[in-house]
Amino acid sequence: MNRFFTRALLKWNESENNREIPWKGEKNPYLIWLSEIILQQTRTEQGMPYFLAFKKRYPTVHQLAAAPEDEVMRMWQGLGYYSRARNLHATAKLISKELDGKFPDTFEKLKKLKGVGDYTAAAIASFAFDEPKAVVDGNVIRVLSRFSGISTPFDTANGKKEFAAHAQALIDKNNPGAYNQAIMDFGATICVPQNPGCNSCPLNKKCFAATHQLVKELPYREKKTGIKERYFNYVCVWHQNALFIQKRTENNLWKNMYQPILLESNMALAKVSIRKKIGELLPPAAYVVKDISEELTQLLSHRKIRFRFIDISIKNRNALQGLEGAFVPIKKLHQYAFPRTVHLYLKQKGLL
Ligand code: ADE
Ligand code: SF4
Repeated sequence: MNRFFTRALLKWNESENNREIPWKGEKNPYLIWLSEIILQQTRTEQGMPYFLAFKKRYPTVHQLAAAPEDEVMRMWQGLGYYSRARNLHATAKLISKELDGKFPDTFEKLKKLKGVGDYTAAAIASFAFDEPKAVVDGNVIRVLSRFSGISTPFDTANGKKEFAAHAQALIDKNNPGAYNQAIMDFGATICVPQNPGCNSCPLNKKCFAATHQLVKELPYREKKTGIKERYFNYVCVWHQNALFIQKRTENNLWKNMYQPILLESNMALAKVSIRKKIGELLPPAAYVVKDISEELTQLLSHRKIRFRFIDISIKNRNALQGLEGAFVPIKKLHQYAFPRTVHLYLKQKGLL
């Protein structure tokens, strides 16, 4: 059964897999690593232009290492999960300076790099160094649970172990890179979450889920993920043609990106409450509220963020004295990296 799976998958890869992606067949560990970091929480189509832009601007790890942090953050803008960009930059510096530009060349050594977990290390080790390490992610779990009829919930410790062991047993040791790329592409194009292409699937005769009418039931998860909501009220303080922005220092989300003054609340604030909150920030005579936006939402993997933007103008810059941050003229706003929704808002207003 395992041999059938591996052979049929590789055969599909050679004859029918027509998924085109710019890093496919790449052997340069730097470019593989770059593509894999970009793809960690990003869809392939969305990641592609970023990969091409990074590759063009930083053709080698030394160039990425030498780039200013703000520039890397700006290049990353729109991809989300910005700790990836910081880890990318930190790792590029390490490899450039301490390892003389030479990438670690085994799964175990790769895993020691910041931002490189099992999946990314397995991808780089197999693509660049032909090490037989199977990748395991949502796509792989879906394919394996359906084909082999594994119903252990994948979001439990046991499930994770079982899928990892099963994946490792299936990998083609002579051709680990092609195998890993094949299973990723198969999960992304044929054995997809909704309405997979079972009718024309080369694995269907031996597929457990297809032969037992269990395709909709597998893979099985134990818990439903709870989504936490946060409320970001951004006070955009304008003076003449300049917006007051601050650098985010908070450790969790969007660290080192820029934003207007943030008033976070644990529930949606009515417009009057927003006005009250601003009253705590500035004396009433110092400002005029120009506009309060409708709510915008952004969905992250475990959170939903609800945004409101409140445009106010102040008569005197000194009103914000004592606050970290600076007034930035509209025509210079493009030089700063903003969280996606802030960027979108400024763009909608024609400011970026
Ligand atoms: N997602 C993560 N790594 C990938 C790869 N090498 N090809 C396509 N999608 C991916
Ligand atoms: Fe996936 Fe359907 Fe193929 Fe089974 S037959 S591997 S469920 S696409």
